[in-house]
Amino acid sequence: MVWTETLETYREMIAAEGWSKKDSINVPVVQTLTFKLALLIIGKCGFGFSFNWTAPPTAPDGTMSVQEALRIVADSHMLAIFAPKWLLALPFRRLREIGEAHDQLMGFMRSQVANRKAEISAHESTKNDAFTMLVKANEDESTKLQLDDQELIGNVFIMLFAGHETTAHTLAATLGFLGLYQDMQQETVEQIVSVVGWDRDLVFEDYAKLDKVLAVFYEALRMFPAGHILIREATEDTVLQIPNPPGQEGTTPFPVPKGVQVMVDMVGVQYNPRYFDEPEKYKPSRWYCISNESEAFSAFSIGPRACIGRKFATTEAVAFLTMLLRDWKVEPILKEGETKEQWRDRVLDAKLVLTLGVSDVPLKFTRRARGRA
Ligand code: HEM
Repeated sequence: MVWTETLETYREMIAAEGWSKKDSINVPVVQTLTFKLALLIIGKCGFGFSFNWTAPPTAPDGTMSVQEALRIVADSHMLAIFAPKWLLALPFRRLREIGEAHDQLMGFMRSQVANRKAEISAHESTKNDAFTMLVKANEDESTKLQLDDQELIGNVFIMLFAGHETTAHTLAATLGFLGLYQDMQQETVEQIVSVVGWDRDLVFEDYAKLDKVLAVFYEALRMFPAGHILIREATEDTVLQIPNPPGQEGTTPFPVPKGVQVMVDMVGVQYNPRYFDEPEKYKPSRWYCISNESEAFSAFSIGPRACIGRKFATTEAVAFLTMLLRDWKVEPILKEGETKEQWRDRVLDAKLVLTLGVSDVPLKFTRRARGRA
């Protein structure tokens, strides 16, 4: 479903953005495309919403897009978590904007919940998506696993959010890296063409053969791990064995008493020379021939609480990148006199909100001549 909907949404994007009639397009902020794509895909596949590129989700009164409201609410949550004093000092206009975004989002979610409840009670819904299951758990009074209204909305928010922001950031970073490193883009396109050719429709069986497309996405995610911090609380006294710095044998014991919270610094993990040679370098080839679910790739976390959306995200990414790169050559839009290195420093720089991403990525897309990578 994710595969098919992504292909469909890519085609909608090309038509709606007017790309079909153009040979070259400048996109000042590629995130405008990747965020819209990812929100539509989680909305359609995880929630059974019937949105499309020209009619994206909006609040019930139509004043604000859900994408915009999610963005503002997520940013304000980050402020509330890390800088409560700043939040108090925010100008009134900004506070009003946050309040409005919050109301719009709640209005949107409540109306979706009400619609789905009505569909379920009228037995009109044959949907089996995560959203329907959450709504059913809210309705079902016979089980101790019932979700109250607040839990329902909270879960909807986190799934909508986790299900699109992370993937959208990583797609933007991937395209930025491929624009910068034309040789890697070329190598990826060669694999795409050898697997799917220039014209035929993609089928899900292609996914497993497009390991280089997955690798460019994985490597962008390693360098900008969207889930940049993992928080755990010790449920009992324990001792962590911390490996000594490279070159020194053994470990150093680190006691963690019960109740202490431990933060895992995912950026530190992904740049640790113990696991990666030349960690500062964008090298997709480190992921070639590594199985899709391999624990060597840890940016989705590993273990029982690892990301449940890993396959969702990689399926979406491979489908979208394959379609896009087969049709379009990607290049950075440089400012006057700017070198590619300066572009990299300016653009492929960490931007931290609730998740980690890169700054606004300005890219030029040029239509490929069929038959020529
Ligand atoms: C590039 C894309 C993504 C990245 C990098 C990512 C990363 C992560 C990470 C690191 C965690 C563990 C968080 C922790 O332990 O504190 C996580 C958990 C989670 N992710 Fe993702 N994620 C991505 C895409 C998605 C998608 C597409 C969905 C939904 C379809 C999703 C839903 C979730 C959920 C529900 C959890 C919580 C799982 C649990 O606690 O058992 N994620 N994700």
